[in-house]
Amino acid sequence: MSLTHFPSGDPSPNATAITKVTVPALAEMKRQGKPISALTAYDYATARLVDEAGIDLLLVGDSLAMVVLGHENTLAVTVDEMLHHTRAVRRAVRRALVVADMPFGSYHGSLAEGVTNAVRFVKEAGAEAVKIEGPRVELVRALTEAQIPVIGHLGLTPQSVHRMGGYRVQARTADAVRELKADARALADAGAGALVLEGVPREVAAAITAELAIPTIGIGAGPDCDGQILVFHDMVNITFAPAAKFVRRYADAAALIRGAVEHYREDVEHHLFPADEESYHLPAAARRSLRNEPEGFDDMDAVVNRDGLPDWGELGQN
Ligand code: KIV
Repeated sequence: MSLTHFPSGDPSPNATAITKVTVPALAEMKRQGKPISALTAYDYATARLVDEAGIDLLLVGDSLAMVVLGHENTLAVTVDEMLHHTRAVRRAVRRALVVADMPFGSYHGSLAEGVTNAVRFVKEAGAEAVKIEGPRVELVRALTEAQIPVIGHLGLTPQSVHRMGGYRVQARTADAVRELKADARALADAGAGALVLEGVPREVAAAITAELAIPTIGIGAGPDCDGQILVFHDMVNITFAPAAKFVRRYADAAALIRGAVEHYREDVEHHLFPADEESYHLPAAARRSLRNEPEGFDDMDAVVNRDGLPDWGELGQN
């Protein structure tokens, strides 16, 4: 092998050094007691904002089936759709760990099929790890052997919505807690690099976090996990539904976007947009020459209030 890329992506001496987040770095953060911040992202623009804000892990979650594509649950999204969004996120991110969710059906058949699909996320979309739901211990082992970092996901696993009979908090009985702990242990032993715990009682997440060497990342699992993840659209309120108990709304993007769009529509309807400053103008020489044309640019001066514009053709300026 040869090192052809600088880790920061910019070899110039003035470039700010960026330390890329990796799966081993997450384990180190746990050892140092440094909380891991994670969010979902599904497109270039939001991925850039999230990465530039210093979030450690970006998950291209299959929740995009609901919040981006408008499906009722996460089951319908395909491998090709997930690859498409993962590529967009990958192009935006410089620092965070990019994790792709394997969608329903892409790892539920043979181990070989699961590995083949996971390879696609790494090879075709630039994912640095994949996430799979449920206690699929053998698949985690096979992916680890294939050099693909894998993040487990236990508790409320949305791809099991029909088996669970809805989205319900899991591990609420002693037996279920014992089973969840055994599954978490087995995934860690099989090589999982981290574990998402979703929709489980705080006490259960705390116990698993204390027991495992790999980091836990909670969503609806209380504050004692090693990290936290939220769905981006939940966090900024663009989901068109009441928030679950575990969601904190950090912004009201729906109100912001609605307000901006209504303002724009009103401006268009009242001829307030675009203004002259937002229009391009003919250079003075062309105006002078056209003034004498028979088909008439006579009223040109009525709409033109600027003169002598340089560099015609620079879209941003003139
Ligand atoms: O798809 C997703 O957004 C997720 C998170 C909720 C962890 O799996």
